[in-house]
Amino acid sequence: MSEPIAYLNGAWLPAAEARVPVLDRGFIFGDGVYEVIPVYAGAPLRMGEHLARLRRSLHAIRMIDPHPAEEWAALLRELIDRHPWPDQMLYLQVTRGVARRDHAFPEDAAPTVLMMSSPLNTPSRDEVERGVAAVAATDYRWGRCDIKSIALLGNVLLRQVAVDAGAVETVLFRDGFLTEGAASNILVVSHGVLLAPPRSHLMLTGITYDLVLELAAAAGVPHQVREVTERETLAAEEIWLTSSTKEVLAITTLNGRPVGKGVPGPIFRRMHALYQEFKSACIASRAALHAAGETRP
Ligand code: PDD
Repeated sequence: MSEPIAYLNGAWLPAAEARVPVLDRGFIFGDGVYEVIPVYAGAPLRMGEHLARLRRSLHAIRMIDPHPAEEWAALLRELIDRHPWPDQMLYLQVTRGVARRDHAFPEDAAPTVLMMSSPLNTPSRDEVERGVAAVAATDYRWGRCDIKSIALLGNVLLRQVAVDAGAVETVLFRDGFLTEGAASNILVVSHGVLLAPPRSHLMLTGITYDLVLELAAAAGVPHQVREVTERETLAAEEIWLTSSTKEVLAITTLNGRPVGKGVPGPIFRRMHALYQEFKSACIASRAALHAAGETRP
Protein backbone atom coordinates (compact mmCIF):
# COMPACT_ATOMS: atom_id res chain seq x y z
CA MET A 1 0.00 0.00 0.00
CA SER A 2 1.37 3.40 -0.85
CA GLU A 3 1.92 5.92 1.90
CA PRO A 4 -1.04 8.22 2.69
CA ILE A 5 -0.36 11.89 2.05
CA ALA A 6 -1.91 14.66 4.15
CA TYR A 7 -2.53 18.31 3.38
CA LEU A 8 -1.80 20.58 6.33
CA ASN A 9 -2.04 24.36 6.03
CA GLY A 10 -0.85 24.55 2.46
CA ALA A 11 1.76 21.74 2.57
CA TRP A 12 1.56 18.16 1.29
CA LEU A 13 3.44 15.64 3.40
CA PRO A 14 3.34 11.99 4.49
CA ALA A 15 0.30 11.72 6.81
CA ALA A 16 2.43 10.00 9.47
CA GLU A 17 4.63 13.10 9.63
CA ALA A 18 1.87 15.71 9.84
CA ARG A 19 1.94 17.57 13.19
CA VAL A 20 -0.05 20.33 14.85
CA PRO A 21 1.06 22.27 17.96
CA VAL A 22 -0.46 21.15 21.26
CA LEU A 23 -2.07 24.58 21.60
CA ASP A 24 -4.22 23.96 18.53
CA ARG A 25 -7.78 24.66 19.68
CA GLY A 26 -8.87 21.46 17.98
CA PHE A 27 -6.63 19.51 20.37
CA ILE A 28 -7.37 21.62 23.46
CA PHE A 29 -11.12 22.31 23.08
CA GLY A 30 -12.37 20.20 20.17
CA ASP A 31 -12.96 23.63 18.60
CA GLY A 32 -13.38 22.72 14.94
CA VAL A 33 -15.52 20.99 12.35
CA TYR A 34 -15.03 18.24 9.78
CA GLU A 35 -16.38 16.41 6.76
CA VAL A 36 -16.08 12.88 5.39
CA ILE A 37 -16.54 12.53 1.62
CA PRO A 38 -16.71 9.16 -0.17
CA VAL A 39 -14.98 8.72 -3.53
CA TYR A 40 -15.86 5.93 -5.98
CA ALA A 41 -13.50 5.13 -8.88
CA GLY A 42 -11.98 8.60 -8.45
CA ALA A 43 -15.34 10.38 -8.40
CA PRO A 44 -16.36 12.17 -5.19
CA LEU A 45 -20.02 11.63 -4.32
CA ARG A 46 -22.06 14.76 -3.60
CA MET A 47 -18.97 16.91 -3.08
CA GLY A 48 -20.92 20.16 -3.47
CA GLU A 49 -23.32 19.11 -0.72
CA HIS A 50 -20.47 18.13 1.63
CA LEU A 51 -18.72 21.47 1.05
CA ALA A 52 -21.99 23.33 1.63
CA ARG A 53 -22.44 21.48 4.94
CA LEU A 54 -18.83 22.29 5.92
CA ARG A 55 -19.60 25.95 5.28
CA ARG A 56 -22.78 25.71 7.41
CA SER A 57 -20.85 24.03 10.25
CA LEU A 58 -18.16 26.73 10.09
CA HIS A 59 -20.81 29.46 10.08
CA ALA A 60 -22.50 27.85 13.10
CA ILE A 61 -19.23 28.03 15.07
CA ARG A 62 -18.62 31.58 13.82
CA MET A 63 -15.67 30.76 11.56
CA ILE A 64 -15.11 31.92 8.02
CA ASP A 65 -14.67 29.17 5.43
CA PRO A 66 -10.94 29.33 4.61
CA HIS A 67 -11.52 28.38 0.95
CA PRO A 68 -14.12 29.13 -1.69
CA ALA A 69 -15.76 25.98 -3.13
CA GLU A 70 -13.55 26.00 -6.29
CA GLU A 71 -10.40 26.01 -4.13
CA TRP A 72 -11.70 23.15 -1.98
CA ALA A 73 -12.59 21.25 -5.15
CA ALA A 74 -9.08 21.68 -6.56
CA LEU A 75 -7.48 20.63 -3.24
CA LEU A 76 -9.72 17.58 -3.02
CA ARG A 77 -8.93 16.64 -6.61
CA GLU A 78 -5.23 16.77 -5.79
CA LEU A 79 -5.80 14.74 -2.62
CA ILE A 80 -7.61 12.06 -4.63
CA ASP A 81 -4.98 12.06 -7.40
CA ARG A 82 -2.15 11.65 -4.88
CA HIS A 83 -3.57 8.29 -3.77
CA PRO A 84 -3.79 5.10 -5.81
CA TRP A 85 -6.99 3.72 -4.30
CA PRO A 86 -10.01 4.02 -6.64
CA ASP A 87 -12.41 4.21 -3.69
CA GLN A 88 -11.36 6.66 -1.01
CA MET A 89 -12.64 8.26 2.17
CA LEU A 90 -11.62 11.91 2.24
CA TYR A 91 -11.37 13.55 5.66
CA LEU A 92 -11.33 17.36 6.00
CA GLN A 93 -10.94 19.22 9.27
CA VAL A 94 -10.82 22.93 10.06
CA THR A 95 -10.05 24.17 13.58
CA ARG A 96 -9.94 27.66 15.06
CA GLY A 97 -6.14 27.44 15.04
CA VAL A 98 -3.31 27.82 17.53
CA ALA A 99 -3.61 30.28 20.42
CA ARG A 100 -2.89 30.74 24.15
CA ARG A 101 -5.39 28.57 26.05
CA ASP A 102 -8.46 30.69 26.69
CA HIS A 103 -12.03 29.62 25.99
CA ALA A 104 -12.81 32.95 24.30
CA PHE A 105 -12.10 33.15 20.56
CA PRO A 106 -8.53 34.27 19.79
CA GLU A 107 -8.34 37.54 17.91
CA ASP A 108 -5.80 36.68 15.28
CA ALA A 109 -5.38 32.88 14.99
CA ALA A 110 -5.26 31.40 11.50
CA PRO A 111 -7.44 28.30 11.03
CA THR A 112 -5.75 24.90 10.88
CA VAL A 113 -6.77 23.07 7.71
CA LEU A 114 -6.15 19.33 7.46
CA MET A 115 -7.10 16.86 4.74
CA MET A 116 -6.36 13.14 4.56
CA SER A 117 -7.43 10.17 2.50
CA SER A 118 -7.76 6.48 3.29
CA PRO A 119 -9.17 3.52 1.36
CA LEU A 120 -12.97 3.50 1.52
CA ASN A 121 -14.21 0.26 3.05
CA THR A 122 -17.87 -0.02 2.16
CA PRO A 123 -19.95 -2.71 3.91
CA SER A 124 -19.15 -6.29 2.95
CA ARG A 125 -21.52 -8.35 0.84
CA ASP A 126 -22.36 -10.36 3.94
CA GLU A 127 -23.30 -7.20 5.89
CA VAL A 128 -25.51 -6.05 3.01
CA GLU A 129 -27.19 -9.43 2.62
CA ARG A 130 -27.70 -10.24 6.29
CA GLY A 131 -27.88 -6.80 7.84
CA VAL A 132 -26.15 -5.76 11.05
CA ALA A 133 -26.86 -5.67 14.77
CA ALA A 134 -27.55 -2.47 16.72
CA VAL A 135 -28.36 -1.55 20.29
CA ALA A 136 -30.53 1.31 21.61
CA ALA A 137 -29.36 4.00 24.03
CA THR A 138 -30.42 7.35 25.43
CA ASP A 139 -29.08 10.28 23.42
CA TYR A 140 -27.32 12.43 26.01
CA ARG A 141 -25.29 14.55 23.57
CA TRP A 142 -25.43 18.35 23.41
CA GLY A 143 -28.13 20.44 21.74
CA ARG A 144 -26.28 21.23 18.47
CA CYS A 145 -25.79 17.81 16.90
CA ASP A 146 -26.51 19.49 13.51
CA ILE A 147 -22.97 20.92 13.59
CA LYS A 148 -20.41 18.41 12.29
CA SER A 149 -18.13 19.16 15.22
CA ILE A 150 -14.85 17.36 15.84
CA ALA A 151 -15.86 17.30 19.56
CA LEU A 152 -17.26 13.77 19.30
CA LEU A 153 -16.91 12.47 22.86
CA GLY A 154 -20.66 11.78 23.18
CA ASN A 155 -20.68 9.95 19.84
CA VAL A 156 -17.51 8.03 20.76
CA LEU A 157 -18.93 6.83 24.11
CA LEU A 158 -22.28 5.92 22.56
CA ARG A 159 -20.71 4.05 19.64
CA GLN A 160 -18.62 2.06 22.11
CA VAL A 161 -21.87 0.87 23.73
CA ALA A 162 -22.54 -0.94 20.43
CA VAL A 163 -19.01 -2.28 20.14
CA ASP A 164 -19.13 -3.63 23.71
CA ALA A 165 -22.36 -5.46 22.83
CA GLY A 166 -20.81 -6.94 19.65
CA ALA A 167 -23.03 -4.66 17.52
CA VAL A 168 -22.27 -2.22 14.72
CA GLU A 169 -24.25 0.88 15.69
CA THR A 170 -26.10 2.52 18.58
CA VAL A 171 -29.58 3.83 17.80
CA LEU A 172 -30.28 6.94 19.85
CA PHE A 173 -33.52 8.13 21.44
CA ARG A 174 -34.14 11.43 23.16
CA ASP A 175 -37.34 11.95 25.17
CA GLY A 176 -39.01 8.99 23.47
CA PHE A 177 -38.08 10.07 19.91
CA LEU A 178 -35.56 8.66 17.44
CA THR A 179 -32.70 11.09 16.73
CA GLU A 180 -29.95 9.24 14.80
CA GLY A 181 -27.14 6.71 15.23
CA ALA A 182 -23.84 7.39 17.02
CA ALA A 183 -22.17 7.82 13.59
CA SER A 184 -25.06 7.55 11.13
CA ASN A 185 -28.66 8.56 10.45
CA ILE A 186 -31.47 6.10 11.15
CA LEU A 187 -34.60 5.61 9.06
CA VAL A 188 -37.38 3.08 9.68
CA VAL A 189 -40.12 1.39 7.68
CA SER A 190 -43.41 1.29 9.55
CA HIS A 191 -46.63 -0.06 7.97
CA GLY A 192 -44.90 0.00 4.58
CA VAL A 193 -43.90 3.69 4.81
CA LEU A 194 -40.30 4.88 5.05
CA LEU A 195 -40.06 7.31 7.99
CA ALA A 196 -37.20 9.76 8.49
CA PRO A 197 -36.81 12.03 11.53
CA PRO A 198 -36.98 15.69 10.45
CA ARG A 199 -33.81 17.79 10.40
CA SER A 200 -33.28 19.59 13.70
CA HIS A 201 -30.53 20.71 16.06
CA LEU A 202 -30.66 17.23 17.62
CA MET A 203 -29.25 15.34 14.64
CA LEU A 204 -26.77 15.77 11.83
CA THR A 205 -28.50 16.07 8.47
CA GLY A 206 -26.61 13.39 6.59
CA ILE A 207 -25.69 13.85 2.96
CA THR A 208 -26.63 10.16 2.56
CA TYR A 209 -29.92 10.71 4.44
CA ASP A 210 -30.82 13.48 1.95
CA LEU A 211 -29.77 11.31 -0.99
CA VAL A 212 -31.81 8.32 0.22
CA LEU A 213 -34.90 10.53 0.60
CA GLU A 214 -34.32 11.95 -2.89
CA LEU A 215 -34.02 8.44 -4.33
CA ALA A 216 -37.19 7.38 -2.47
CA ALA A 217 -39.09 10.37 -3.90
CA ALA A 218 -37.82 9.72 -7.45
CA ALA A 219 -38.71 6.01 -7.28
CA GLY A 220 -42.13 6.56 -5.70
CA VAL A 221 -41.24 4.78 -2.44
CA PRO A 222 -43.87 5.89 0.11
CA HIS A 223 -42.08 8.04 2.67
CA GLN A 224 -42.65 10.70 5.30
CA VAL A 225 -40.29 13.05 7.09
CA ARG A 226 -41.69 13.33 10.60
CA GLU A 227 -40.91 12.64 14.24
CA VAL A 228 -40.51 8.90 14.84
CA THR A 229 -41.21 7.54 18.30
CA GLU A 230 -39.11 4.98 20.13
CA ARG A 231 -42.14 2.70 20.22
CA GLU A 232 -42.54 2.91 16.41
CA THR A 233 -38.87 2.18 15.95
CA LEU A 234 -38.94 -0.87 18.21
CA ALA A 235 -41.99 -2.20 16.30
CA ALA A 236 -40.71 -1.28 12.79
CA GLU A 237 -40.63 -3.78 9.92
CA GLU A 238 -37.27 -2.39 8.79
CA ILE A 239 -34.60 -0.16 10.30
CA TRP A 240 -31.81 1.31 8.14
CA LEU A 241 -28.68 3.24 8.90
CA THR A 242 -27.15 5.65 6.40
CA SER A 243 -23.74 7.32 6.22
CA SER A 244 -21.10 8.28 3.68
CA THR A 245 -19.01 5.23 4.53
CA LYS A 246 -21.73 2.67 5.34
CA GLU A 247 -24.01 3.84 2.46
CA VAL A 248 -27.39 2.32 3.34
CA LEU A 249 -27.40 -0.75 5.54
CA ALA A 250 -30.20 -2.77 7.17
CA ILE A 251 -30.26 -3.16 10.94
CA THR A 252 -31.69 -6.64 11.39
CA THR A 253 -31.38 -7.04 15.15
CA LEU A 254 -31.95 -4.35 17.75
CA ASN A 255 -31.05 -5.11 21.37
CA GLY A 256 -30.66 -8.77 20.37
CA ARG A 257 -34.22 -9.02 19.00
CA PRO A 258 -34.98 -9.42 15.29
CA VAL A 259 -36.20 -6.36 13.39
CA GLY A 260 -39.21 -7.52 11.31
CA LYS A 261 -38.29 -10.95 9.98
CA GLY A 262 -34.67 -10.50 11.05
CA VAL A 263 -33.41 -10.14 7.47
CA PRO A 264 -33.05 -7.05 5.24
CA GLY A 265 -36.56 -6.11 4.10
CA PRO A 266 -37.90 -5.56 0.57
CA ILE A 267 -37.86 -1.76 0.77
CA PHE A 268 -34.25 -1.82 1.95
CA ARG A 269 -33.26 -4.09 -0.94
CA ARG A 270 -34.90 -1.71 -3.38
CA MET A 271 -33.16 1.31 -1.85
CA HIS A 272 -29.81 -0.46 -1.78
CA ALA A 273 -30.13 -1.15 -5.52
CA LEU A 274 -31.15 2.47 -6.21
CA TYR A 275 -28.15 3.69 -4.23
CA GLN A 276 -25.75 1.45 -6.16
CA GLU A 277 -27.27 2.68 -9.46
CA PHE A 278 -26.82 6.28 -8.35
CA LYS A 279 -23.14 5.60 -7.56
CA SER A 280 -22.61 3.97 -10.98
CA ALA A 281 -24.22 6.95 -12.72
CA CYS A 282 -21.95 9.31 -10.77
CA ILE A 283 -18.85 7.31 -11.81
CA ALA A 284 -20.03 7.19 -15.44
CA SER A 285 -20.65 10.93 -15.62
CA ARG A 286 -17.19 11.68 -14.27
CA ALA A 287 -15.67 9.24 -16.78
CA ALA A 288 -17.56 11.07 -19.55
CA LEU A 289 -16.28 14.46 -18.34
CA HIS A 290 -12.79 13.04 -18.22
CA ALA A 291 -13.07 11.67 -21.77
CA ALA A 292 -14.22 15.12 -22.90
CA GLY A 293 -11.03 16.58 -21.43
CA GLU A 294 -12.76 18.19 -18.47
CA THR A 295 -10.65 18.29 -15.33
CA ARG A 296 -13.27 19.37 -12.82
CA PRO A 297 -13.81 16.81 -10.00
N1 PDD B 1 -20.32 10.24 10.17
N2 PDD B 1 -24.91 11.39 12.05
C1 PDD B 1 -23.70 11.31 12.63
C2 PDD B 1 -23.60 11.54 14.10
C3 PDD B 1 -22.57 11.01 11.86
O1 PDD B 1 -21.36 10.94 12.44
C4 PDD B 1 -22.72 10.75 10.47
C5 PDD B 1 -21.56 10.41 9.58
C6 PDD B 1 -24.00 10.84 9.92
C7 PDD B 1 -24.24 10.59 8.45
O2 PDD B 1 -23.83 11.68 7.66
P1 PDD B 1 -23.37 11.49 6.14
O3 PDD B 1 -24.45 10.74 5.47
O4 PDD B 1 -23.24 12.87 5.64
O5 PDD B 1 -22.06 10.72 6.16
C8 PDD B 1 -25.08 11.16 10.73
C9 PDD B 1 -19.12 10.16 9.39
C10 PDD B 1 -19.16 9.19 8.26
C11 PDD B 1 -17.93 9.98 10.32
O6 PDD B 1 -17.90 10.70 11.30
O7 PDD B 1 -17.04 9.18 10.03
